[in-house]
Amino acid sequence: MFDLKGKLALVVGAAGYLGSDVCRGFAECGAEIIAADWNQQGLEVLAETLKAQGAAVRCECLDCADPAQTAGLMDSVKNTEGAIDVLVNAVYYRTSKGVDELAEEEFTKANKVNITAAFSLLQQASQLMGPGASVILFSSMYGSIAPNPGDYPEGTAVNPIEYGAGKAGVNQLVRYAAAWLGSRQIRVNAIAPGAFPWNVTDNEEFLRRLRAKSMLGRVGRQHEISGAAVFLASDEASFVTGQVLSVDGGVSAW
Ligand SMILES: NC(=O)c1ccc[n+]([C@@H]2O[C@H](COP(=O)([O-])OP(=O)(O)OC[C@H]3O[C@@H](n4cnc5c(N)ncnc54)[C@H](O)[C@@H]3O)[C@@H](O)[C@H]2O)c1
Repeated sequence: MFDLKGKLALVVGAAGYLGSDVCRGFAECGAEIIAADWNQQGLEVLAETLKAQGAAVRCECLDCADPAQTAGLMDSVKNTEGAIDVLVNAVYYRTSKGVDELAEEEFTKANKVNITAAFSLLQQASQLMGPGASVILFSSMYGSIAPNPGDYPEGTAVNPIEYGAGKAGVNQLVRYAAAWLGSRQIRVNAIAPGAFPWNVTDNEEFLRRLRAKSMLGRVGRQHEISGAAVFLASDEASFVTGQVLSVDGGVSAW
């Protein structure tokens, strides 16, 4: 089970904390990977790690919110690999601002990355997809529940409104696109992580509160994301579409 040999996976946001773990999982299951990100250095580190695993990987440095750049990538895939079997989008944008401070342009900028770029990638990649292909967008628990300001110690920015609004948009994008692409046997799902903190490791009080929110009494670990992605990418998930799979230690379930 969970054999991805013969599948080509385009992972956008591949150099990130969770995107790189998705790549690791895909590589372990035999997928060929196109790793895309705008962090060139991060891509190089990732490619070195994946190649050491024996994976076939090529890197593409681009801004995924620029449809001309992503269209260029799709053209190169069409001419080189021919087809895409799996698309993952693990990119996001957010500010650290409260509602009162957030300017309209910042809200719009977030939507451009969190929703519009996800839509463009999905629209473009689906043209290179055939029956059995799988799209996986990254949502968040904050696409379906609101952050509780009381969970944030003084001086720690509350997860901002444009982020959750964008992730709610991703959830609906998934349902709509699953219905749209279903007749072509292309599946569309999202993964909604809970807290997988990597940039607040020095904020012990915040971490304590994050742990307390989870039914498992802890936060997510980096290696705990790829299992969901491998499942959704694989033929074992062949009847799973239009879903938002929570990987959040139960935070959104109580
Ligand atoms: N880490 C968490 O706790 C958590 C929780 C819930 C949801 N998520 C979601 O999971 C996904 C991955 O998050 P992460 O924690 O790995 O974040 P991350 O910041 O480590 O990774 C994001 C990656 O996207 C890249 N990127 C950003 N904008 C880009 C652009 N315009 N073009 C190309 N690349 C771009 C960055 O360079 C980075 O490598 C995101 O969608 C995020 O919203 C994360």
